Amino acid sequence: NDVPVVTLDGPGGAGKGTISSMLAANHRWHLLDSGALYRLTALAAHNHGVDVADEAAVAHIAETLDVCFLTEADTSVKVMLEGQDVSHAIRQEAIGNAASVVASIPAVRDALLQRQRDFAIGPGLIADGRDMGTTVFPAAVLKIFLTASAEERARRRMNQLQLAGISANFGSLLRDIQVRDERDQNRSVSPLKPADDAIVLDTTELSIPDVVARIEALLDERL
Ligand code: C5P
Repeated sequence: NDVPVVTLDGPGGAGKGTISSMLAANHRWHLLDSGALYRLTALAAHNHGVDVADEAAVAHIAETLDVCFLTEADTSVKVMLEGQDVSHAIRQEAIGNAASVVASIPAVRDALLQRQRDFAIGPGLIADGRDMGTTVFPAAVLKIFLTASAEERARRRMNQLQLAGISANFGSLLRDIQVRDERDQNRSVSPLKPADDAIVLDTTELSIPDVVARIEALLDERL
């Protein structure tokens, strides 16, 4: 499989989502928002009354997940779960926290692995997540690891939520980010860490266009 893949990994709120969709739009490449798959698993478990502590039941939910990503004319993506538009529902903080819990179940990660690899279709793929460069696409042409301070990420998440019309509290967002970082970095399978061959970009002091320009320059060297 020689489809070029660019991986963007890093903690929540580092700007991966925004930057990945800009890169995908620039190149007209496919986009994988892998976090959405974990969020969808968490939401489906919730909808089916499955406790996230019941690992076998959650793994079954991940295996049989009925999802569809529809790209709209404005390049935004509509996320469908069992025929329902859940684009808004999966962005809730409670679902993000539950996603981080289900993501620590090895059988859930296994169930979602092939589904993620199936996104690598020509002309190319931008893959956004935590383990895109380490586990899902180890042969990616370019691996970026985006970071930013926890405070800056909480500020960005707060702005994002406010724009989406969801009310938020800075202190609780910061705490959630710290708890989620801790869980993502310390889980036994696919912990959040840069691949050995990843380029680490700290975006705390960088604007979105700056980050995109740096990644485009790196990609130009490799394609
Ligand atoms: O990126 P997003 O906030 O949507 O991801 C939700 C959760 O899914 C993360 O906190 C992380 O625990 C999990 N995740 C993961 N591996 C990925 C993407 C997301 O474990 N590749």
